[in-house]
Amino acid sequence: MLSKAEQTEIETHIEHARTRSSGVIEALRVVQKHRGWISDEAVREVAEFLGMTSDEVDSVATLYNRIFRKPVGKHVIHVCDSISCWVMGSDSVKEKLARKLAVSAGETSADGMFTLLPVDCLGACHKAPVMLVDGELYEKLSDERIEEILNEIRAKE
Ligand code: FES
Repeated sequence: MLSKAEQTEIETHIEHARTRSSGVIEALRVVQKHRGWISDEAVREVAEFLGMTSDEVDSVATLYNRIFRKPVGKHVIHVCDSISCWVMGSDSVKEKLARKLAVSAGETSADGMFTLLPVDCLGACHKAPVMLVDGELYEKLSDERIEEILNEIRAKE
């Protein structure tokens, strides 16, 4: 069952939604914020809370790439995998991140700090190549800039 805090937060977010089910992404975001990812159990709980089926909630959770259906690291890196970033060198960005973190796309580093996920166009093509780290956009990436960003994040830990 969703915690009282999760329920209250979801109700606040979906207060003005046309139907309860139209608030499913917000509900998943709230639960993910509390638990780190969305397990099968969480899907069932959200479904029950919103009066939906688990399959309906799961189809949204699986489609939306900012909802994690597997455990992720403390920091999630979404690296853009679309054409403008590719033209501007995203292959090098992905290789650098994979080498520095010793992971392949979709994996979490051994220390649990970073999960590396490819993602479609982030809508910042004019700043390519780009990535999001925990939702924050980093643009015009270079090998040196990636090194700096990872070091900055590690230094804050
Ligand atoms: S192609 Fe990377 S932001 Fe659009």
